[in-house]
Amino acid sequence: MEQSSHGAGKSAEHDLRADADRVRREVVSFVRRSNRMTPSQRKAWDQHHDQFVLEVPRTANTTSVAPGSELDLAEVFGRTAPLIVEIGPGMGDSLVPMAAARQGANFLAFEVYEPAAAAIVAKLAAAGITNVRIVVADAVTALQHLLTPEAIDRLWTFFPDPWPKARHHKRRMIDTAFADLVASRMRRGGAWRLATDWEGYATWMRDVLDEHPAFSNGSTAGWSPRWEKRPVTKFEQRGLDAGRAVFDLTYNRV
Ligand SMILES: C[S@@+](CC[C@H](N)C(=O)[O-])C[C@H]1O[C@@H](n2cnc3c(N)ncnc32)[C@H](O)[C@@H]1O
Repeated sequence: MEQSSHGAGKSAEHDLRADADRVRREVVSFVRRSNRMTPSQRKAWDQHHDQFVLEVPRTANTTSVAPGSELDLAEVFGRTAPLIVEIGPGMGDSLVPMAAARQGANFLAFEVYEPAAAAIVAKLAAAGITNVRIVVADAVTALQHLLTPEAIDRLWTFFPDPWPKARHHKRRMIDTAFADLVASRMRRGGAWRLATDWEGYATWMRDVLDEHPAFSNGSTAGWSPRWEKRPVTKFEQRGLDAGRAVFDLTYNRV
């Protein structure tokens, strides 16, 4: 089709906007790493993938979920039960024992790093756990496109990547836009638990969530006592070993 110079100008403008959108989407909370698995992770992945890993429609980007991909949770889990979502479970140090101790809940984990998901699959299979499903995806697009409003009963974000340098703060997962997204997918009365060993990020989370009209922590003190049921993960231990304090936060969806 022939394009007028006016049309060409419009298309250039469109390209610029597309570029801006692409740049915004590229500011993600994780570092893209090689997805190479260890032999034991590969073995667990091949043997147990279908039991624990949900393959979902993608955009061109392998970590992004395509719009319009809502999960039928009753079908996925074969039952209806309260939904606990863990974002960034890493190797599953907290997810696996916590799911084992809560057989009455359905667990959905969003982890962007495939070898970590494979490590979780290995642990779930070894422990005979059946109430967990993992989606290898950026939690932002997973929340947006897999879950319907009020789907989440509880959300856990333990030791999200802290991005301590000021020029990287825009990569922090927890911000007002993300809290808006969580609020849109969590039922009223639902609980969002967070933990971090970076004081600057802890204060940042508290500022974001204290100001957010959809969340309340029910006290003016801000921090929660350490949740004693939360197992100490490798990341928490690393922070403790380095002399950092650990901050827990708990907010309810009002
Ligand atoms: C610092 S680790 C903490 C892991 C675990 N929660 C723990 O305490 O051991 C952060 C994890 O979040 C994952 N992650 C970061 N951004 C993510 C995102 N947008 N969606 C899903 N997972 C993400 C990383 O791949 C990594 O496994």
